[in-house]
Amino acid sequence: MLSRQRLEFGSVSATPTRYPAPVPLFESQTTRAARTQSGIPAHLREDNFSRGWDDRLARYRRGIEDLSVEIADPLKLSANERHALAVRVRDTNMAVYRCRQPENVDRAAIQALTSQLGLGKPDSNLCSANDGLSELEVNHSATHQRYIPYSNRPMGWHTDGYYHTPERAIRAMALHCVRPAMSDGTLQLMDHEIVFGLLHRCDSRYTAALSQSDAMTIPANEAAGPGVRGSVSGPVFSYNGDALQMRYSARKRNIIWKSDPVVGEAIAALAEILDSCAELVVTHRLLPGEGLVCNNVPHRRDGFTDSSQPGCARLIYRGRYTQALTTMVLR
Ligand SMILES: [Fe+2]
Repeated sequence: MLSRQRLEFGSVSATPTRYPAPVPLFESQTTRAARTQSGIPAHLREDNFSRGWDDRLARYRRGIEDLSVEIADPLKLSANERHALAVRVRDTNMAVYRCRQPENVDRAAIQALTSQLGLGKPDSNLCSANDGLSELEVNHSATHQRYIPYSNRPMGWHTDGYYHTPERAIRAMALHCVRPAMSDGTLQLMDHEIVFGLLHRCDSRYTAALSQSDAMTIPANEAAGPGVRGSVSGPVFSYNGDALQMRYSARKRNIIWKSDPVVGEAIAALAEILDSCAELVVTHRLLPGEGLVCNNVPHRRDGFTDSSQPGCARLIYRGRYTQALTTMVLR
């Protein structure tokens, strides 16, 4: 059996810095029940929030200034490359890698790279290939055309797999660009911990309301056929150990929000944060050989126009993982 070793950050502390989650001074029964159900660690205290949050936000602002790491060989990351990726993930929950020789990067190389970041085989879905990677390209097949990722249409803010059960939560995601569109197709992303902090600063009731286990319900996927996926309820914000995770979609259809005025206010405030905090949103258009790895942060995509030349259309490989990059290990 191969030994597993936690990824070190060199001179930087390897301990993930998480700003403490809020514990309101006066909790209503509803809030207390919601926090208990969401599993937010009880040892986190409100009086640490400001200090932790200011530091976290400052590191995020610095981190998004330079998210890219050049990779010589995705089959074998160097210690410096691993360190550079790890620091970016620690500070922003995301990183962009740029392979020096894009033409040599096949899907096996992508799997090798993500494996070195602690991610296993991608979670499969109706449209993924046998290796678990999905080929995001315009696809008019009966199965694919029901889903926006396989069109050239814009995609609103969401986290991947927001319709999954908690047992199959998508905690990390990788996007690797083989070919960009002829024009547009730009991504926008925002660290979910920053979203949480901004929302909490707005009103601590909002983060509590969206941590309720029945805050967001996705109806059964009837279109995909009987029994493919039943109705799924869950929180927007929850914890896996001490790692915050988020499930969210800005879609108006096929989302049932809990009938609760605070949930309604919280969703409106969350949408405003994503749409109005431009200086905290990462905007990036992936080029050939470039890829994004992230802890399933909320993201959106511009629509795009493809080349009409055969073999020149936009192609992005996508992997979704039930592990998080915050547990990055070396094998
Ligand atoms: Fe996505």
